[in-house]
Amino acid sequence: MTKKIAVLAGDGIGPEIVAEAVKVLNAFKQDGLDIELEYGLIGGAAYDETGSPLPEETLQMAKQADAILLGAVGGYKWESLDISVRPEKGLLGIRSQLNLFANLRPALLYPQLADASTLKPEVVSGLDLMIVRELTGGIYFGQPRGIRILENGEKEGYNTLVYRESEINRIGRVAFDIARKRQSRVCSVDKANVLECTELWRETMTALSKDYADVELSHMYVDNAAMQLVRAPKQFDVMVTTNMFGDILSDCASMLTGSIGMLPSASLDENGKGMYEPIHGSAPDIAGQNIANPLATILSAAMMLRYTLDQPAFADRIESAVSKVLDQGLRTADIFSAGMTRVTTAEMGDAVVAAL
Ligand code: NAD
Ligand code: IPM
Ligand code: MN
Repeated sequence: MTKKIAVLAGDGIGPEIVAEAVKVLNAFKQDGLDIELEYGLIGGAAYDETGSPLPEETLQMAKQADAILLGAVGGYKWESLDISVRPEKGLLGIRSQLNLFANLRPALLYPQLADASTLKPEVVSGLDLMIVRELTGGIYFGQPRGIRILENGEKEGYNTLVYRESEINRIGRVAFDIARKRQSRVCSVDKANVLECTELWRETMTALSKDYADVELSHMYVDNAAMQLVRAPKQFDVMVTTNMFGDILSDCASMLTGSIGMLPSASLDENGKGMYEPIHGSAPDIAGQNIANPLATILSAAMMLRYTLDQPAFADRIESAVSKVLDQGLRTADIFSAGMTRVTTAEMGDAVVAAL
């Protein structure tokens, strides 16, 4: 049966990088991949057109699709808007409305890029880490939130960090299940020495680990985890953490792989339906120049084929094609190093298609 994919390019470099992932997906049609792409508006582009960063039409399209491919949202143009209609609210809204609570962010170093990392090759070579980030709860969504005026006239901003046991258990299960297919080690990252909410996180993870006697569970405070990611990242197999900590640690981990332009992600619901997007943003500083790295988005399409469309062979082909173009020495600006061939966003996409 034809699988429907909602394509939401968004803002900034979003349309440029999504176009390359679409090229790759379309190239598989001749080999029997039965997909139909539908295009929708999200983020600033949607706000400009409709007054909402997540129009009802887009939400319905996303709900009815089998999978969603997203570029990125946000940009200077919309920074002064009220936070309730900012482009980022569109992304948060779709994650929450579709219940995409499990965000998988794999940091895998392609050996060809060992020199592109800012860390020494011996520190990062062989890196293969999976960050499992809770995506629909925590401080991103907790109530109450806002900015209020105090009696003395001063303003006060506030947000609430909140997790229920059920939310911790379901993201914990995702992490333990993934670890079973890898090296069977989970490191749960929290701030249990200061925050009650993550004290509960730690207790709940520990209790859950009784169901996974074959998986080794360790705990780490988030500040130490950030340091360890840079000091000795290969100590980690699976990291599981809260929404905000996962946001920060995954940007940090991306640099271990050479560039934030290399890190894909999957955001999954309880049934394996998913949205797929690079972890980076709309990169307004380089938008419209055809220089952004499309590989994170192309690799996100591979995750879509693997996790939602049940087409692991096509996913494998994308991942080996990416490896091949790196072998050919092709590099966008962000991963460029001496002796390599510098290519544009579109040339990189074309090269991946040619290497499939
Ligand atoms: P960013 O990830 O967009 O960019 C950070 C830096 O990385 C920039 O210098 C950028 O040029 C570079 N970069 C990012 N992706 C790249 C790529 N594919 N190739 C080469 N270089 C790349 O983060 P930011 O600058 O903090 O945020 C910019 C906007 O994006 C903001 O509006 C932010 O809210 C939004 N944002 C959106 C998402 C998303 O849609 N998932 C994620 C993060 C940030
Ligand atoms: C990400 C982004 C988003 C987040 C923003 C744009 C809402 O940084 O996908 O990592 O914080 O989750
Ligand atoms: Mn982020």
